[in-house]
Amino acid sequence: MTLVDQFQRRISYLRLSVTDRCDLRCTYCMPERQTFLPRSEVLSLEELHQLALGFIARGITRIRLTGGEPLVRRDMIELVRALGRKLGDGLDELTMTTNGMALARFADDLAAAGVRRINVSLDTLDRDRFTALARRDGLAQVIEGIAAARAAGLTVKLNTVALKGVNQDEIPALMEWAHGQAMDLTLIEVMPLGEVEADRFDQYLPLTAVRADLDARYTLTPSDHRTGGPARYFDVAETGGRLGLITPLTGNFCDGCNRVRVTTTGQLHPCLGGHEMVDLRAALRSADPDTALSSALDRAMAIKPLRHHFAIGAEGEVPVLARHMSVTGG
Ligand code: GTP
Ligand code: 5AD
Ligand code: SF4
Repeated sequence: MTLVDQFQRRISYLRLSVTDRCDLRCTYCMPERQTFLPRSEVLSLEELHQLALGFIARGITRIRLTGGEPLVRRDMIELVRALGRKLGDGLDELTMTTNGMALARFADDLAAAGVRRINVSLDTLDRDRFTALARRDGLAQVIEGIAAARAAGLTVKLNTVALKGVNQDEIPALMEWAHGQAMDLTLIEVMPLGEVEADRFDQYLPLTAVRADLDARYTLTPSDHRTGGPARYFDVAETGGRLGLITPLTGNFCDGCNRVRVTTTGQLHPCLGGHEMVDLRAALRSADPDTALSSALDRAMAIKPLRHHFAIGAEGEVPVLARHMSVTGG
């Protein structure tokens, strides 16, 4: 019934990408000129809903909507409302990872649909840096979005991808800014997805180095706090806040993996860092979708790998996945 993989890991968390589009173009996530998928390839609202129900029937209790940027999809709120009705009826948590650009518009709707907590990506508080990194001028809009989400009663966690020569010097300021408003901040090691050019190799910043810098200025004590995700949390004595570290490269967390991700075309990726895929769209569009979906999920459990093989190194030495993060939503 429930989903358990070949390594006896219980899979209870689905990351569902609802669009490959985004209104930003973060350099580590998307190329400037992205060819977006034609509509016919993308799962319809009904298919996304049916798919989510199929996962819930197999014991998925948490769903995180991702993209691309989930809030650029026009019928997104309808999906959130439909899934919100499953809260307390199979689903324990419905969340979203967003770039924050459209939160001022949608925060109230998300809260009303039953979303309690969202993750917002924010890599810098400097407008020029933001514009260079996201290739769009959006900082003020994101800050406004975060404020709107909090005003709507949503718990906001900030996600910062740590980048050498880009925002490394700003990490304490970002942390103090987040903690000053009682928000958790999670730092993320950049993963080699997409077209990783030379400058992106130079941007790799192991969080072991960031941790050493922070330890020189702050007192970090391991916290018991867990969200079910890969972050390991620390309490920061000086700020009274919580800092999460997501270390795919310097501290593998795959042993405790509880998740799978589905792209906007219905391809299930058992691992963010793997090549394996199971076609759920074909199952959904078959004569007997319920049975086909359930057996596709069994297949996914049988092929989910033990771990990803991302590594840090110089250009040419590191296995790079050609797929962009915007396709799987992380
Ligand atoms: P919560 O713990 O529920 O708050 O969510 P999260 O931190 O898992 O999700 P979020 O979408 O905020 O992702 C934060 C970072 O973690 C992104 O860079 C994701 O790509 C990364 N991440 C999430 N799940 C996995 C995973 O299974 N493997 C790897 N390697 N990275 C992941
Ligand atoms: N490595 C690590 N994190 C990434 N994200 C996007 N691309 C990458 C990458 N290559 C982050 C975004 C967002 C989350 C879903 O994943 O900043 O916070
Ligand atoms: Fe858009 Fe998020 Fe990718 Fe940036 S990281 S381009 S905000 S999907």
